[in-house]
Amino acid sequence: MVFIMELLVSVPMIVLLALFLLGKMSIFLRTKQISKSDFQKLPPGSSGWPVVGETLDLLRANLEGNPLRFTKDRVEKYNSLVFRTSVLGEQMVVICGPAGNKFAFSNEGKKVVLWWPSSLRRLVGPSFIHKVGDEARTNRKLLVSFFSVESLINCIPTIDEVTRNHLATHWQGKEEVKVYPTIKHHIFELACRLFMSISEPELVSRLSVHFHYFSKGLMSIALDFPGTQFHAAMRAAEAIRRELLVLVRQRRIDLNNKVASPTQDLMSFLLSNPDEDGKFMPEVEITNNILGLLYGAHGSSTSTITLLIKYLGELPQVREKVLAEQREIAASKAAGEFLTWEDLKRMRYSWNVVSEVMRMTPPLINMYREALVDIEYEGYTIPKGCKLYLSISFTHDDPNCHPNAMEFNESRFEGSGPPPYSYVPFGGGPRMCLGKEFARVEILIFLHNLVNRFDWDLSIPNEKIIYDPLPVPVNGLPVHLRPRDP
Ligand code: HEM
Repeated sequence: MVFIMELLVSVPMIVLLALFLLGKMSIFLRTKQISKSDFQKLPPGSSGWPVVGETLDLLRANLEGNPLRFTKDRVEKYNSLVFRTSVLGEQMVVICGPAGNKFAFSNEGKKVVLWWPSSLRRLVGPSFIHKVGDEARTNRKLLVSFFSVESLINCIPTIDEVTRNHLATHWQGKEEVKVYPTIKHHIFELACRLFMSISEPELVSRLSVHFHYFSKGLMSIALDFPGTQFHAAMRAAEAIRRELLVLVRQRRIDLNNKVASPTQDLMSFLLSNPDEDGKFMPEVEITNNILGLLYGAHGSSTSTITLLIKYLGELPQVREKVLAEQREIAASKAAGEFLTWEDLKRMRYSWNVVSEVMRMTPPLINMYREALVDIEYEGYTIPKGCKLYLSISFTHDDPNCHPNAMEFNESRFEGSGPPPYSYVPFGGGPRMCLGKEFARVEILIFLHNLVNRFDWDLSIPNEKIIYDPLPVPVNGLPVHLRPRDP
């Protein structure tokens, strides 16, 4: 929809867009020139319409709430789990199924490398998402230590406190709450607090408005001129960066004067810790990394909590079992006492439910890689430089991996769980989601506080989910609240 509107803005824009996309299309054209005889070895598929490729069909499927239609239609048409397409201005090879996930995860840095769409890379700026090879490993090691279990354990009281305050302010005393925008605000507030110790509501609101425009441009076509969504997003990213740079510089002074602690948040951590080569991160890179992590931390957790509330609203028996588990944990605590790591480990049933929510409606429906060399895969050649699109939702929906895949069944996560490489909401291999444990902690703490305080009914039964590009209920998921007896 957004894409169509952008396209209609002006004729010069279409011309520029055409030039831009023709440049991008050169990978397969080059391949044709280099080795015509090898052309037949390319995976089956189509580049679609000139300029836009098959983007419109992909966006249509997302807005219909059925992103898998795009992939499944083509898997059926070509009778192949590997096919070629052209979307978002890139020639891509879509790879479906656990074998594709295994191939990508185990060949990171050898045959493939993590790749993000150019809109995302340009908006976030030079940061960990741009790094490959040794640089990526060093950078990731530094960030991994911030997200280690030890530092997460220290964050639990803050996450619990922020969550309780959020429920007291935005849920308590209300008859109806629109879940998606409310959770979006909560997750952003939490990230501001944990990454930068920001708690002033005005600053959080200002950053959140910029962040809204920033997020809208992340999956748009990277055309930076007035009128485009990407242009507005670039301006918003600059505004956030300006605000963050002021905070980073002040924090450096505070750290030198010993009025800030080196462990108080992500900003202090990045300013105080060199990488394994003894190099400190430049200030601009710190702001970009925080911006990238705000993005990583925000949308997927917001979507997961929102969908969890939706599924629990539709499945009263599951909700009762979650409540029983959470009540038992609450009963073992003194009044006002915060949750602990041990408490979170006891939330096994609840985490199985969250896992099933992420299987049925994965927050990120795909991952991207770039081919570092010409790849031979399943009898086809994937040319060097080509982008790979790994479909998370295709594997999650596969009845060979998940029997009765259309049914909600949290028990499939008991014991050893689904087969290897078939359940990948957080990706896998060396570039697996850095915030997996962080997400688990914030989601379970929210669930614990929510179910112990409220029961709810969905105001709109079977509310449609669209992908924008993350799954979002089309009306924001309004729910009727009923406070529980303390
Ligand atoms: C339910 C919540 C979340 C889901 C489903 C999720 C999912 C993912 C996925 C699928 C990837 C791509 C992996 C790949 O391409 O192989 C990823 C990467 C990433 N995620 Fe998450 N994520 C979640 C929450 C978070 C949070 C809370 C943070 C930060 C606090 C975070 C930080 C990151 C980072 C930094 C990366 C890039 C890792 C790298 O480049 O090496 N994520 N996530």
